Amino acid sequence: MDKIIIHGGKKLKGEVIISGSKNSTLPILFATLLTDEPSIIKNVPSLADIDTAVKFLNFIGKKTIKKGNTIRTYSSCKYKHIAPYDLVRKMRASVLIMGPLLARLNRVDVSLPGGCTIGARPIDIHLDAFKKLGAEISVEGGYVKTSAKDGLKGAAIDLKFPSVGATENILLSAVLAKGKTTIVNVAKEPEIEDLVNVLNKMGAKISGAGTGKIIIDGVDSLRGFTHEVIPDRIEAATYMIAAAITKGDVVLKNVVPEHIEAISNKLKKSGLFVKENGTTIRVKWIRGLHPQNIKTEVYPGFPTDVQAQWMALMCLLKGHSKVEETIFENRFMHVAELQRFGANIKIDSRVANITGVDKFSGAPVMASDLRAGAALVLAGLAAEGKTIVSRIYHLDRGYELLEKKLKKLGADIKRVHV
Ligand code: EPZ
Repeated sequence: MDKIIIHGGKKLKGEVIISGSKNSTLPILFATLLTDEPSIIKNVPSLADIDTAVKFLNFIGKKTIKKGNTIRTYSSCKYKHIAPYDLVRKMRASVLIMGPLLARLNRVDVSLPGGCTIGARPIDIHLDAFKKLGAEISVEGGYVKTSAKDGLKGAAIDLKFPSVGATENILLSAVLAKGKTTIVNVAKEPEIEDLVNVLNKMGAKISGAGTGKIIIDGVDSLRGFTHEVIPDRIEAATYMIAAAITKGDVVLKNVVPEHIEAISNKLKKSGLFVKENGTTIRVKWIRGLHPQNIKTEVYPGFPTDVQAQWMALMCLLKGHSKVEETIFENRFMHVAELQRFGANIKIDSRVANITGVDKFSGAPVMASDLRAGAALVLAGLAAEGKTIVSRIYHLDRGYELLEKKLKKLGADIKRVHV
């Protein structure tokens, strides 16, 4: 199992190029099942989750090849309608196979994805929507069996929560349903807009992305596409916080500033110099920062995927701050690990109460999920002495070339194979 070793205390300086978005690439990959024509997806990050999705598509029957940061899919033969546990358990986003296969085959059997460390991660909102679109659902032997013998029909769908994945699954099925579908209380994340742009390139008729209501007029078939995925806003936010926590001066390239406004505004309020200029953002530490409370919310609020990284920064700022997690029920797994560095954090249900400490001391720590792992790396960059981060396979799921990018910025960091 690989580990990352960091000798902290180096100020990060220089330029970092932000990779394409993992959470945009994944639904777009599943969208290729909606057409038998070839497609090309560019600016794809080289990540474990992307490799898992590519393997999955080839298993289902869609020939898919990744070369560098480009993925090509080819005209398909017959698709399998079953998504087995050993594939689905590796990546929760595999549930996005349901929408396209339901739309193309009128049936799909998917192993229940199971939870993960940040929560139970149910899919009831997805299934309720499929029922509204005319599907019948049964759960047998750990599989969710979904079928629509007369095909999917457009419906009015009102989500009880603006679930990102459920919104994507509805889009990936309703585009080929008979008639009109409306979705209200829909997720507004940039990754949703990127998926809608791809589906409309394919010939779908969708309007309202980014607003609270999306309208889809079903069509009979969809064509292939070429698309460059948007930059990864969560990776960008992580490097902005890395610059802040090491008192550095970093220029991020290939970002969409409006996608990370919630984080930029909080960093500016804390006293960090943040300057947006087209697709670059300069982040420079000038003087001691002031702690800022955050409460995670759906987009455009403060993203839950940056909560752990933000907490690491708050632990080293003089004064008190609160971090409230409202999206997932168990997303404080990084707290105990941050305390190993010397952090002073008290949890009260979904609120972490933080009292800043003067310094962190390096320590052996363990990543519990993708973003918690990122928080531990940030803490190690700021800590005095040596930090060893284990279970970094979590990081490999979502951060392309992490240690190479950080090393280029001046960090003393290396990966060891043990
Ligand atoms: C997406 O997960 C992202 N994953 C997550 O990023 C991100 O944290 C999350 O959205 C929230 O922004 C991908 O895009 C691949 P949700 P998703 O459905 O779609 C509950 C990362 O770090 N819920 O918006 O699974 C759910 O339990 C990952 O890259 C239901 O109750 O998120 C959670 O509490 C981690 N029933 C909340 O809604 C459902 O049917 C948000 O979930 C679906 C969700």
